[in-house]
Amino acid sequence: MIKEPDTLMLIGFMGAGKTTVGKEIARQHHSKFIDIDSEIERVAGKKISEIFEERGEKGFRELETKVLNDVQTFDGVVATGGGVVERPDNLEILRNSPATIIYLHGNLESTIGRLIIEGQRPLLQEKSAADFFALWQERDPKYEEVANFTVETVGKTPARIAAEIIALF
Ligand code: S3P
Repeated sequence: MIKEPDTLMLIGFMGAGKTTVGKEIARQHHSKFIDIDSEIERVAGKKISEIFEERGEKGFRELETKVLNDVQTFDGVVATGGGVVERPDNLEILRNSPATIIYLHGNLESTIGRLIIEGQRPLLQEKSAADFFALWQERDPKYEEVANFTVETVGKTPARIAAEIIALF
């Protein structure tokens, strides 16, 4: 069922646990892991927050598309940023992706709780709870559309979610 090459890509809203679960899958499955946000920071030599400050969201999204393209055949687990479904270009990349794409589906309550604890997202500073809800509703069908599988995450530990994903194949 997993497509070749063996690239597993995690998508979902910010705070869904893509990085934590991705690292856990890589640990349990003895595979490599890459995080698109970290890769953007590495390529730009700057923090995501600095990229947003200096180049705006548009500048950040351009870098994100470039890195998304580059990791399509990464041999291992890829964690994307929550806004990867924002640009039509990215949706096209994801629709044609050789990777198996998993949507980590949570709920807004647990996600907002997690984001408040973690902080550090530029979009978090700009948006109200109502904006977040609207963003959630706008992105949810896009994640669903490009994903090969949707995995429910509410009430589950990262280790359990990782094990469920590994068991899919
Ligand atoms: C974003 C999510 C972030 C990061 C950037 C924008 C978004 O990634 O890419 O702050 O638009 O949802 P996480 O989903 O890892 O928080």
